[in-house]
Amino acid sequence: MNRVRRGAGYLACAVGRRRFLAAGAACVGAAFGGPLTGCAGAAPRTTLASDRVVGLAAVRRLLVERTDPVAGRCRYVADTGARQVAQPVLVARRGEVFDAVIENALPQPTALHFHGLTLAEAADGAGFDPIAPGERKRVRFELLNRSGLYWFHPHPHGFTAEQIYGGLAGLLVVADEDDDALDAALRLAPANRLALALADVRVANGVLRPYAPTPEECLHGWYGNRALANGALEAQQTVAPGWVRLQLLNTCNARGLLVAFRDGESLVPFHLLGTDGGLLSAPRELERVFLHTGERVDLALNVTGRGAVAAVSLEFDPRHHMQGTASAHRHPARERYAPLAAATVCEGAPGVAATDFLPDGAELPLFGLRVVGAGGGAAPPLPARLAALAEAPAWPDAAVRRMRLDFDEQFGFVIDQSPYRSEEIAFSVDRGAREVWEIKNSPISMPHPMHLHGFGFRVLQRQGTFGPARRLATEAGGRLPTDLGVKDTVVIWPNETVRLAVDFALPGGAAFVGRQRYMFHCHNLEHEDGMMMRNYAVL
Ligand code: C2O
Ligand code: CU
Ligand code: CU
Repeated sequence: MNRVRRGAGYLACAVGRRRFLAAGAACVGAAFGGPLTGCAGAAPRTTLASDRVVGLAAVRRLLVERTDPVAGRCRYVADTGARQVAQPVLVARRGEVFDAVIENALPQPTALHFHGLTLAEAADGAGFDPIAPGERKRVRFELLNRSGLYWFHPHPHGFTAEQIYGGLAGLLVVADEDDDALDAALRLAPANRLALALADVRVANGVLRPYAPTPEECLHGWYGNRALANGALEAQQTVAPGWVRLQLLNTCNARGLLVAFRDGESLVPFHLLGTDGGLLSAPRELERVFLHTGERVDLALNVTGRGAVAAVSLEFDPRHHMQGTASAHRHPARERYAPLAAATVCEGAPGVAATDFLPDGAELPLFGLRVVGAGGGAAPPLPARLAALAEAPAWPDAAVRRMRLDFDEQFGFVIDQSPYRSEEIAFSVDRGAREVWEIKNSPISMPHPMHLHGFGFRVLQRQGTFGPARRLATEAGGRLPTDLGVKDTVVIWPNETVRLAVDFALPGGAAFVGRQRYMFHCHNLEHEDGMMMRNYAVL
């Protein structure tokens, strides 16, 4: 059953400013706008090609609201006092302070999680303490992380997938001296630095469909058939010849992306500059890169001499090796609140036509770059060194913590055979402890992008990797090039064992005094809202 009023000819399109267009009309990305240098508040030097840039430190109030009850579309609005910006792209420099009131105007509880940042429990927004509908909460923190692309999104258990699919996923671009030096070395034109949140959505008959997963989709994940880049379908960005720097985030509910760039039939090589937690020590030349949900990549692409470049997710075998059926799990937290759109969530929603979505691993066009402007000179050489980043530490004497990812007939995917229990602390670690985590995914499984709150980590080794990832494992220890950077989210393929080095050092300062609770979970949002999450504490 289609709950969208087709006859009324609505096309819900989550561009920065909400707009309804007649059904059938193409909703082509107007979301990028022209380049903009100045920002409200402290003026970061980062020049992002977006008309929605707001300085993190300038935000006084962040409103979370539903804009379209038919399709369940939502947005963040940043209020600086001087202006209101819908779906803001926040920019900051290391050391800046965020101090704002989060106002929940949704009909559901929400939470504001800053994914990837080093935060105390009170500011992490992981959903231990969600904001009820109509309530507000003040959040204050100092930004301590390296330059890179981070993001913010809802985290109320049982509602996360629906709210992120509804459009609640914001970018936070952090700059520092390494970042400035890189832009200068690339001689980036003002239009050539882009930060893009990529999502897949379901569009049927020109109408954006609301979130209504079947029990089957609650097990595998909710997949769309079209891609949004910063909220726009078929986004096109005009860039100048020379280097283009792209910071990409996968905000899909469940879809893994194998990002590549096409010029006609051929793939355009590019350079990996950084990952979740900032720049690599040196760039790596690639032709394709996996970007699973929650992960980020920072890329440089030389477009000199090209007319147009199409960013795509290439076809790959997604390794969904599962048997057994899903039991429709219930979300007790959901029982008091209606869905964002007129549909039920994960509790026996009516089936959808298979044509409404593309399976995981199917080819999917993402966005386009149009190269316009004077020919210009050749792009300058890439710097050989990007940042001071040591090799991943071996820590032969570190304590090893082993975890298993499994499928459970009753609960779906779980960590260590345990469904999520909001009150439970699965384990505690001492502040400053150095641990090696060894996470093993069962052979009968799916790829799980596992995310750690509170701490970035390093990838030490992959074993038992098969499928499409094996071929990209060019680095020591069976690792992929993206494993060389600081990570907060790492995909673990079926049958694979991944070893991570985690340093549980917390910053000093009043905010971090006392026990801090964090979460470790799968960033496939249906798995996260299902049961694939655990709390842990740092003492
Ligand atoms: Cu991006 Cu716990 O999430
Ligand atoms: Cu997170
Ligand atoms: Cu998962």
